[in-house]
Amino acid sequence: MAKILVTGGAGYIGSHTVVELFNAGYEVVVVDDFSNSNPKILDQIEKISGKRPEFAELDLCDEKAVNAFANQHKDIDGIIHFAAFKAVGESVQQPLKYYRNNFYSLINIITAFNSKIKLVFSSSCTVYGQPDTLPVTESAAVKKAESPYGNTKQIAEEILQETCAVTPDLRVIALRYFNPVGAHKSALIGELPIGVPQNLIPFITQSAIGKRGAITVFGNNYNTPDGSAIRDYIHVVDLAKAHVAAIKKLETQSNDNYEVYNIGTGKGSSVLEIINAFEKSTGEKLNYVIGARREGDVEQTYGDVTKSNEALNWKTELGIEEMMSSAWNWEKYLKANPF
Ligand code: NAD
Ligand code: WQD
Repeated sequence: MAKILVTGGAGYIGSHTVVELFNAGYEVVVVDDFSNSNPKILDQIEKISGKRPEFAELDLCDEKAVNAFANQHKDIDGIIHFAAFKAVGESVQQPLKYYRNNFYSLINIITAFNSKIKLVFSSSCTVYGQPDTLPVTESAAVKKAESPYGNTKQIAEEILQETCAVTPDLRVIALRYFNPVGAHKSALIGELPIGVPQNLIPFITQSAIGKRGAITVFGNNYNTPDGSAIRDYIHVVDLAKAHVAAIKKLETQSNDNYEVYNIGTGKGSSVLEIINAFEKSTGEKLNYVIGARREGDVEQTYGDVTKSNEALNWKTELGIEEMMSSAWNWEKYLKANPF
């Protein structure tokens, strides 16, 4: 049975991916330093899967610790590298924190495993900025990043591509996620935002449960059908399954050793459509006000997912309704069972 290392496996997308790796029959080792997650998530994974991943608590920026870990784990067959900082606004305030964590961790991992490894990297649709044509394909131009966070994803892709070009034994897939939302159907794992959520869905669920006030819709004067901004929201469980598909692809891929895939539904939804969908799928009434556009936001983006659908033999199965109801069930679970 193949053994997969999941860095950042206690985090939002990582925890859902550990569950899907177990479902697909893999053995899993998680590394996390809990800088943006809670150790209890490992118990929750065990409740869902009936299995607990092997675990090592370490900071991937610590080169010595990563090397020692790699030496003790020579049986690892593949890596899914989630560990990174991801708060766009904070990255503008503290760029070095982001460059340090997101680059050191990536470089340490590849170096420690001696570059002879299959690796799936978490990239982001943020690399496209506002695309010139929609849906955006993988061959679209990468635009100058709006934030240090976005820049870490662009440069990390370059680091991986350039390293693959001179390292035939290294095989990498970079997945450019659109907007991951929702939670596992068990409601035992989900997104755990620290402080006031900057992202739309956690703000909606916290507003609905009474933890926050009214939602502010950031702009209703965009050039979109209802004036609010459009994104390609993808259920986190579908996203998690894309990582299993990417690992399977790396097990057989023999030609190109660096590939990039869009991971989304291919469909865009506006902020107002999301608010409506939440109300419809949960029966909860939301309070919202229209506010100014948020600095750095793009008007609309959604992905062309033909390449990932075909090459990874993967496609999304869950719609907006499941995204909203699962996010809401998770918020209610958290209220009843605070972490
Ligand atoms: P998350 O913060 O929930 O998970 C990241 C995990 O990595 C956390 O558990 C954190 O404690 C851990 N971590 C961070 N730095 C570490 C270090 N130096 N050593 C060990 N552990 C460390 O984030 P997420 O939403 O699950 O995102 C996972 C990845 O996907 C990130 O690379 C993120 O940039 C990328 N991504 C996320 C989104 C999104 O909207 N959530 C979109 C596109 C890309
Ligand atoms: C979605 C839409 C907001 C909150 C961010 C990162 C991106 C990626 C995913 C990692 C936008 C609107 C939001 C609110 C609102 N992460 N909104 N009121 O901005 O598409 O992407 O997360 O790679 O890099 O930038 O996601 O959830 O913040 O916003 O109107 O209170 O909801 O303006 O149109 P975004 P989001």
